[in-house]
Amino acid sequence: MKPSKEPLLTALDIATRTSELADTISTDYTGRELLLLPVLKGGLIFAADLMRLIKVPLTLDFIRARSYQGTRSQGGVEFLVHPTEPIEGRHLLIVEDIVDTGRTTAAILDLLQAEKPATISLCTLLDKPASRQANVEPNYAGFQIADHFVVGYGLDYNERYRELPAIHILEEE
Ligand code: IMP
Repeated sequence: MKPSKEPLLTALDIATRTSELADTISTDYTGRELLLLPVLKGGLIFAADLMRLIKVPLTLDFIRARSYQGTRSQGGVEFLVHPTEPIEGRHLLIVEDIVDTGRTTAAILDLLQAEKPATISLCTLLDKPASRQANVEPNYAGFQIADHFVVGYGLDYNERYRELPAIHILEEE
């Protein structure tokens, strides 16, 4: 498998849309302070670009979660990295690379909600609404894409291709 020669989204497409999202977020959070929580590893690059364009004060921390198959059929999610910042009373903005089935994100939102934040919102660069299985609706979404497997700009295939500046569809060799 390898990334398509032509990108699905160019670095310029991503930068332009990221700037629009940052403007909307800055307007929505005027007068408030954000706790930005990128979901590792995929959300790192998007969050690094987004945070430099947001115009309200913010604090940065990280989440890393892993899905596991529990004894019940639906499995669950556990934190591998939990924010060290206090969550209670804060305005959380979760930053994801992609919401696909939405299961991981739904579980992360549930776990954080239990820690009593003031508000919690979800910003994702990519949204694949056709594959949704959990009840998750991003508050901010960069691009809706069809059900392709994509790599680049933080997104990996077996840990490769995160460093590509654009987003490519993964194709057969
Ligand atoms: P979920 O299905 O929404 O729970 O997605 C969980 C995780 O799967 C995402 O945060 C990504 O890390 C990964 N993922 C889903 N779709 C893609 C893709 O097209 N490319 C790379 N990673 C993906």
